[in-house]
Amino acid sequence: MRADDALRGLGSQAAEAPWYHPTGNEVGRVGQCHANGLAVMLKGPTGCGKTRFIEHMAWKLGRPLVTIPCHDDLAASDLIGRFLIRHNGTVWQDGPLTRAVREGAICYLDEVVEARQDTVVVLHALTDHRRILPIDKTGETVQAAPGFQLVVSYNPGYQRMLKDLKPSTRQRFVAMDLDFPPADIEARIVHRESAVDDAAARGLVALAERIRQLRDRGLAEVPSTRLLVNAGKLMVAGIGPREACQAAIVSPLSDEPSMVAALSDLVEATFV
Ligand SMILES: Nc1ncnc2c1ncn2[C@@H]1O[C@H](COP(=O)(O)OP(=O)(O)OP(=O)(O)O)[C@@H](O)[C@H]1O
Ligand SMILES: [Mg+2]
Repeated sequence: MRADDALRGLGSQAAEAPWYHPTGNEVGRVGQCHANGLAVMLKGPTGCGKTRFIEHMAWKLGRPLVTIPCHDDLAASDLIGRFLIRHNGTVWQDGPLTRAVREGAICYLDEVVEARQDTVVVLHALTDHRRILPIDKTGETVQAAPGFQLVVSYNPGYQRMLKDLKPSTRQRFVAMDLDFPPADIEARIVHRESAVDDAAARGLVALAERIRQLRDRGLAEVPSTRLLVNAGKLMVAGIGPREACQAAIVSPLSDEPSMVAALSDLVEATFV
């Protein structure tokens, strides 16, 4: 990822807050963490609203948002910065984390567990009372500007046999559990995000609740709010509910014929 991509939006604020429907006290809690300079770990399954929540919080707190998707190739220099060779010598270029630290942005590291541990360690001095980022290559120590906050996301549902965060990393964050919201709120979200009518939104949520009960019976990942929104959008585009659910929910969830058949039965029972 290019640093510029992560930094898009620095210094500008959308006129309207990205819409987020709270499911508990997460808005107040992250606000309190921000006021106290505490780093936050958002735990929750894919598609439950973590990214939307942090976009909403950044807007609410009036801070720019820098998002960094983590992967196992992510090196410390991708976060901190590097020397670039130019015709007249070398110049230092800040990475997205360094820019966020200097600008007092909210820095969101998505799926932090994917990053190598030697990369994650660069966060340590930022997440305790020091709030500093040492840049070894230049010898500079950057003090985090007021407003800087580190937020990471973590999906505890995935198989984590080999990957986990070190205790010394985990214990630097205030953890917040996010999950799929109760049915009435989830239906409101699906309705608002996809523009599908109320009855269809409630149908999609009822279907999701039935499918989620299959979690312990061989279904590795359960349908997220995101999948329901996608199905709703297909329905608004004129695709019949069964076909929309097949394409947006059943097929993304499984390739296994008996599971696909079981899911399809649930679709047919829901949208008769
Ligand atoms: N509480 C919510 N308020 C508003 N929209 C929501 C909410 N929860 C889910 N959504 C909808 O679901 C979509 C997926 O949410 P989001 O991208 O924030 O999930 P995520 O938890 O970041 O997933 P991943 O772990 O895969 O990155 C959003 O684009 C939005 O349409
Ligand atoms: Mg996300």
